[in-house]
Amino acid sequence: MVHHSITFTASALALAALLLTTTVHAQNVDQSLVSLDPYANETTSQRDERMAWFRDAKFGLFIHWGVYTVPAGTHDGKPINGGGEWILLRGKIPLDQYKTYAQQFNPTQYDPDAWVRLAKQAGMKYIVITAKHHDGFALFDSKASEWDVVDATPYGKDLIKPLAEACRKHGLKLGFYYSQAQDWVQGGNTDHGPAWDPAQPTDMDQYLREIAAPQVKEILSNYGDIAVLWWDTNWGMDRKRSDLLIPMLSLQPGIIHNNRLGGGYQGDIQTPEQHIPGTGLPGDWESCMTMNRTWGFKSYDDQWKSPQTLIRNLIDIASKGGNYLLNVGPTAQGVIPPPSIERLQAMGLWMDTHSDAIYGTTASPCRIPDWGRITTKLGEHSTTLYLHVFDWKKNGEIFLPVDNTVQSCRLLTDPKQTFTAQHHPGRGITVTLAGDVPNPNASVIELIVDAAPVRSASDYLAADDQGVIALPLSEAVIEKPYAVKMRYDAQNQEINRWTDDRAQMSWEFRVQKPGRFTLELATHAQDDTVLLAQVDGQTVQSHIARTGSTFARHTLPPIMLSTAGIHHLKLLPVEGQWTPLRLKSATLRPFAP
Ligand code: GLC
Repeated sequence: MVHHSITFTASALALAALLLTTTVHAQNVDQSLVSLDPYANETTSQRDERMAWFRDAKFGLFIHWGVYTVPAGTHDGKPINGGGEWILLRGKIPLDQYKTYAQQFNPTQYDPDAWVRLAKQAGMKYIVITAKHHDGFALFDSKASEWDVVDATPYGKDLIKPLAEACRKHGLKLGFYYSQAQDWVQGGNTDHGPAWDPAQPTDMDQYLREIAAPQVKEILSNYGDIAVLWWDTNWGMDRKRSDLLIPMLSLQPGIIHNNRLGGGYQGDIQTPEQHIPGTGLPGDWESCMTMNRTWGFKSYDDQWKSPQTLIRNLIDIASKGGNYLLNVGPTAQGVIPPPSIERLQAMGLWMDTHSDAIYGTTASPCRIPDWGRITTKLGEHSTTLYLHVFDWKKNGEIFLPVDNTVQSCRLLTDPKQTFTAQHHPGRGITVTLAGDVPNPNASVIELIVDAAPVRSASDYLAADDQGVIALPLSEAVIEKPYAVKMRYDAQNQEINRWTDDRAQMSWEFRVQKPGRFTLELATHAQDDTVLLAQVDGQTVQSHIARTGSTFARHTLPPIMLSTAGIHHLKLLPVEGQWTPLRLKSATLRPFAP
């Protein structure tokens, strides 16, 4: 076994020493009084500075790679359900059999420089790779375990080191995914069900001390500057356990970490998985998504999203203020599947001429228009609005409910092509399209207006002719911790997975005619439950009875909306009295006693 020499910088050594003393010291003091989070006392401007590159970047590459690419979705001749990287658990594969797969993991065609160039050409600014996934296998040379690429495979070389070098060479940032809680081989979380092999250790604390903590220290010490630590699944991670890991972040000043550590640590970014939140999310966030169905390579997964869908996903996410972390699953030979390469190249072609409308932008100033999406760049004296037109109708008109004076309006990719843009004071701006579709994936019009965008009153949810205010579920702003999977499910057009009393949702709407309203919901309640609605400082409480297998209409007690203008309505659970609920519709109706 060859151990690569580890080069610590002086400051990293000093920090490591500090970490050791912190740990020893922490045993003698009340843990709840000590915050080990290096960002616990960060000011808003310090945080803004730390998050700046991430907010501008918008687009990153996720790489899921490991031993599971050898079986590639099939074990003992049987296809195994779910993501390819879960095959060890889903297939209940005995550990010694799984380890023989490692003996076939020999990625001789691995070309990290080509991977990084591919990501860069696609327009990506950072890469996050699975340093260790739930199967515990480390893609790096670890002193804490022999279950790594150097000791357990014929390849025998650290896979991370050359990737880090290539990232540095080509100017991309590098982040590590690290499965801190689940490790099915080395004793990480076994709460998810009984172990299937007596060889699986079950002492999670010992695993955290002897494997996870030293490995997190290794990956944050041995590979130069690391921009992101991407924890995954917080199962079994209470505060004490999380506190073993969080101080390690100090090894990489300025590092960003996500919300999946556990122990109540919120991290810097929310991580919606395999979906794009309808209205974006409060704060910083990143949607991670696959191009087909799996994260880790599966030989027979060919359900690829079209390049157009992927390009529009990127635009959709940027228009809601988030980042897109798009996955590839290389094979055991070290090859990124050709359909993934083609898609990244297609995205790159679009980005070559449109990236100004993505990088450094912020969310749309108004609700999603029916013709596409909007991204924003605030300037000192003007604002650039990028109108990403999905539905380009020759000589058609598009409307945006932004009440500002227009300075200029042209095609992003051809400044000579201008469009008529008319400001209707109090209402918004109409742009008249001309000519054939400039780009079938998304054509971008650069519209410059005079000042910070002013959202016009017509953009808010408001009453129809009958005075009824529909609150679309797709536009509910959902707030929840990572562990709660509640979301708007576009396929079933409902909000589901509301399994927990820590999640809530809200809407913003405009009242023209003040008065009393009742909120009517179509709900599916697994059991009797209690729901609160809050608006303008009033709270109404309502008991929802078990609905059986269908959705049932439920009307809450009346609320008073006494002023014309913008209001917020929040739906939230009563702590401790919650049972899972699904929602099919939400409507405010004028109250007629
Ligand atoms: C997960 C999974 C997983 C995948 C991932 C990406 O929750 O367990 O296999 O790595 O998140 O977001």
